[in-house]
Amino acid sequence: MAGQDTTDTALRGFALGVLHYPDVQKAAQRQLDSVCGARPPTFEDRENLPYILALAKESIRWKPGVPMGVMHTASEEFEHRGYVIPEGTTFIDNIWFVRIGRDISVYHNPGAFDPTRFLDASGKLSSENTRSDLLGFGRGRRACPGREFALNTLFIGIATMLWAFRFQWPVDENGDYVVCGVNEIEDHVHVATPRPFGVALEPRHQHLREQLLESMNESAARLYLIA
Ligand code: HEM
Repeated sequence: MAGQDTTDTALRGFALGVLHYPDVQKAAQRQLDSVCGARPPTFEDRENLPYILALAKESIRWKPGVPMGVMHTASEEFEHRGYVIPEGTTFIDNIWFVRIGRDISVYHNPGAFDPTRFLDASGKLSSENTRSDLLGFGRGRRACPGREFALNTLFIGIATMLWAFRFQWPVDENGDYVVCGVNEIEDHVHVATPRPFGVALEPRHQHLREQLLESMNESAARLYLIA
């Protein structure tokens, strides 16, 4: 349950991001085309697709599914930077806020959807599991235990969707784009998620249906072998 709304939010954040930032979509597709060509991506491509991994991380930073974290309680009194924190104090981890997920000393132009903030000058992932990478998963001993699973899900989902389709805004009967704003967020109690919006998906490859079905069957067969 903890992984459903949160992963869904990250995927919505990804779709919203690439629709608002077409250059990000193009850069990702350039890397996918050079690594995978005409076949769908697999987990074996992970090392060679740093831009996609960065896109997954940026989707979680840009639209954190749990923007106020999960509340924690001090189990005993302690001192932090001169403040005495009494036992029983409730902590709210304001992941979204300026000093954390939008801290300009860590993230250049924090409002922009920009996966390159997680890449070095040569295009490789600049850091693994640092403060700036995994903030959206909380911190400390109760940080999200599903984070690696979630990043893997996002990696293969984003890679496959961008390999398969060009994302565009849908058009209405007057020919106008039907756009969802970057701050149109729905409140799902603990989880805040971009509201539902339409996406027009244009196939990027021939025989796409057959290729995707084949790759799904291969994955299912591999899972069966592991089980
Ligand atoms: C993008 C996807 C996800 C995000 C953004 C996310 C975020 C979070 C956050 C912020 C917390 C609270 C951490 C804290 O207390 O400081 C949390 C806890 C938790 N998450 Fe995730 N999560 C995601 C996916 C998943 C998945 C896929 C699973 C399971 C397979 C999972 C299982 C859990 C569980 C069990 C907890 C409670 C841990 C505890 O209190 O000890 N999450 N998650």
